[in-house]
Amino acid sequence: MAQAAATVGDVTLLINNAGINRLERAILSRDATAVRAEMEVNYFGTLSMCRAFTPALIANRGVVVNMLSILARVGLPMMGSLCASKAAALHMTECLRAELAEHHVRVLGVLPGAINTDMSRDFPRLKLSVTEVFAALANGPDEVYVGAMAQSVSVGLAADRDAVQKQFAGYLLTSTEKR
Ligand SMILES: NC(=O)c1ccc[n+]([C@@H]2O[C@H](COP(=O)([O-])OP(=O)(O)OC[C@H]3O[C@@H](n4cnc5c(N)ncnc54)[C@H](OP(=O)(O)O)[C@@H]3O)[C@@H](O)[C@H]2O)c1
Repeated sequence: MAQAAATVGDVTLLINNAGINRLERAILSRDATAVRAEMEVNYFGTLSMCRAFTPALIANRGVVVNMLSILARVGLPMMGSLCASKAAALHMTECLRAELAEHHVRVLGVLPGAINTDMSRDFPRLKLSVTEVFAALANGPDEVYVGAMAQSVSVGLAADRDAVQKQFAGYLLTSTEKR
């Protein structure tokens, strides 16, 4: 990361997109290493990228885009450890936005629902195209909810957080549960 940051000193846009989803529960997990791995990539990886590129972004008044997930705002039992790692990354994104505001660096958090990529191959629900994500970034607010599902969850959380939490607590993914 340090080498990359030193190589591209004129960077104006940092998109932290890398992420993993081990499809594991946070507590009743068969694979305890998943919790740590997801935190390493989704939280510490994103944080380390932000730290490495912050000097260049400040110098260039750049933009940071952290790819999060709507699961940063709700607890989905079958992916509990992913939810925790994305929630940590969401809060870090908020803190980074506050820290860098005086340096005129914009910090966006993108919270999509399911996107049609390799990561979501077992998830037969709403899917978005990647172009929709970039379209939302063009004119959106700092916290960008992408797709109808993510937007309805955001609205639902504002209206009745308890009801949305209970709704997500009831979700199960058959293919995951069978593993
Ligand atoms: N797919 C969805 O439904 C969905 C929904 C909400 C949010 N997201 C988020 O969108 C982002 C992109 O996910 P995706 O759907 O495109 O998943 P994907 O198809 O599995 O791609 C994940 C990407 O992350 C990279 N990556 C993983 N671990 C890494 C590491 N330790 N160091 C560097 N790169 C690493 C992978 O690189 P390699 O190929 O080299 O391993 C790959 O390019 C993630 O942050 C994900 O959480 C996805």
